[in-house]
Amino acid sequence: MADTEWGFSTEQVHAGIEPDGGHGARITPVYLSNGFLFADFDQARERFAGEDEGYYYTRYGNPTIAAVERKLAGLEHGVDALAVASGQAALTIAFLTLLRQGDHVVSARSIYEGTRGLLREEFARFGITASFVDDPNDAAALAAALQPNTRAVFVESIPNPGNEVPDLEFVARVAHEHGVPLIVDNTLGTPYHVRPIDFGADVVVHSTSKFLSGHGSAIGGAIVDAGRVANYTKNARTLAGRFGPTLSPFNAFLLQHGIETLSLRMRQQSANALEIATWLEGRPDVASVAYGGLASNPHHANAERYLTGGYGAVFAFTLRGGQPAAESLINRVRLWSRMTHLGDVRSLILHPASTTHTHLTPAELTENGIEPGTIRLSVGIEDAADLIADLEQALDRHGHE
Ligand SMILES: Cc1ncc(COP(=O)(O)O)c(C=O)c1O
Repeated sequence: MADTEWGFSTEQVHAGIEPDGGHGARITPVYLSNGFLFADFDQARERFAGEDEGYYYTRYGNPTIAAVERKLAGLEHGVDALAVASGQAALTIAFLTLLRQGDHVVSARSIYEGTRGLLREEFARFGITASFVDDPNDAAALAAALQPNTRAVFVESIPNPGNEVPDLEFVARVAHEHGVPLIVDNTLGTPYHVRPIDFGADVVVHSTSKFLSGHGSAIGGAIVDAGRVANYTKNARTLAGRFGPTLSPFNAFLLQHGIETLSLRMRQQSANALEIATWLEGRPDVASVAYGGLASNPHHANAERYLTGGYGAVFAFTLRGGQPAAESLINRVRLWSRMTHLGDVRSLILHPASTTHTHLTPAELTENGIEPGTIRLSVGIEDAADLIADLEQALDRHGHE
């Protein structure tokens, strides 16, 4: 179990692991069993009543999934965690544990488009509304957005692609002054760079498909509970059991493996990202680089304050040549993968305006800092020199063939 004296790298390997009583397996095995035997009549009754902590049906709990839940709770400084089938499922369950018809959410404007769609379109169908604040660090704007029926405030620790790192302590304070919990999506920060609960977050959400799994092979999600909202995980687990987005025990096993090397990967990926962002900033064909780790970035002060050990590995930059230059770069890279995914050991490249953000109006694209020449990078663990050389050959060939 987690030891409060352990450093992050020790904890990522050992936290949450309980010795296997059966065969002494060192690694928590994949328990691919939908159900679990009851010793007798009374034990069956006790498990359903929650009087016996044993498992009964994987949709409500499973030893492989529980091991990764304990590890995530430890790494995020939470008291409990719930793993589910995807990041999107984690967001859905996290919000719906707090919200009902007629309720309202205040969210930062700069968030993952899937979350924005969920809040704006899907929840609206069930009578839950959302307001989006351009700058969650603006006290007046945040206070003006909060309504008597607001039941959650939501931000991301490192928004993509703009890297507008929020002032977590401030946002938590304002939310709490209004009696509202703060939910933070820490997918891009990961607990290696930031533990939002330490700064006042009440609930932390992850797409574990990204950096936590790390290898692009297991979709998953998680919710970590700071222990400040009464019965939060218990209610979330009941809701998840009823809605049904269960994490496969096999994906939980892959996630467990991924987390064991999180610090090593984040250190390398964030260092690579800083090197690439710095190099891009010096190129004449690059108009701007939206990386919080750069001293020139308007969000650098918050990045410095809240992120430790690096500034993350996902950011955007904008080419002066607009969409033709972006198309040329995307088509000419050889090492970077053209993909809509994040946090992989492989480096990934994407053109947001024609893919993830294609449904936005030109005005919304501008609001989100996305121009025709904007490119998003998710930097992997490869050698930075190779990643830069590949971008360089692709950029230099634009207009010369
Ligand atoms: C910040 C963030 N949160 C949540 C999600 C959704 O996660 P998933 O793809 O695991 O459903 C994503 C996916 O890109 C994301 O970037």
